Amino acid sequence: MALKPLVLGAAGLLALLLVAGAGYFSLRAGQRQAPPPHSLRPDDPQVLRVGARIYAQQCAACHGAEGEGQPSWRDRGPDGLLPAPPHDASGHTWHHPDEQLFAITKQGLAQLINQPDYRTAMPIYGGVLSDDEIVAVLSWIKAQWPPEIRRRHDEINIQYRQSLSR
Ligand code: HEC
Repeated sequence: MALKPLVLGAAGLLALLLVAGAGYFSLRAGQRQAPPPHSLRPDDPQVLRVGARIYAQQCAACHGAEGEGQPSWRDRGPDGLLPAPPHDASGHTWHHPDEQLFAITKQGLAQLINQPDYRTAMPIYGGVLSDDEIVAVLSWIKAQWPPEIRRRHDEINIQYRQSLSR
């Protein structure tokens, strides 16, 4: 019978579509549930130990041992560059969601603001620090914030992720 292979073929195609559909929906559900890849972990003591060491080695020279930043950090210096801003509650590091802090540190500000010619003293750490090390140092920075600022930063993360999924 010539009809049989056709029916079988149609049934096979249907089965394939069902499997693909189920896969698609479970993937979407997974995206909603899984924590975003570069989420900071300010409550993980092991992450914080690594982060503290990296901060002291890589960031403190500019951003200050306590995250206090450089003097007059809002004003450009004679070289036209901005001084390093504080990372503590008085700065605006905490205004950025995790993903942006990660991108600033790994890829640099110029790429984040999409202005390749932007001149800044802030180094690019991709190739210097691993992704885990970048998460660790940013987690340490977050762990220094007072509880109220940490809570507001958590809110900023939630809003940012909602804006992406819309
Ligand atoms: C050579 C000095 C220098 C070093 C070292 C340095 N930074 Fe920066 N950083 C800057 C400057 C300057 C800016 C402000 C850049 C601008 O806006 O032009 C900045 C900005 C930032 C910002 C954005 C803050 C905001 O409020 O928008 C983050 C996040 C940051 N740095 C993280 C780090 C981390 C993490 C390290 C260590 C791994 C580090 N920086 C090391 C100079 C430095």
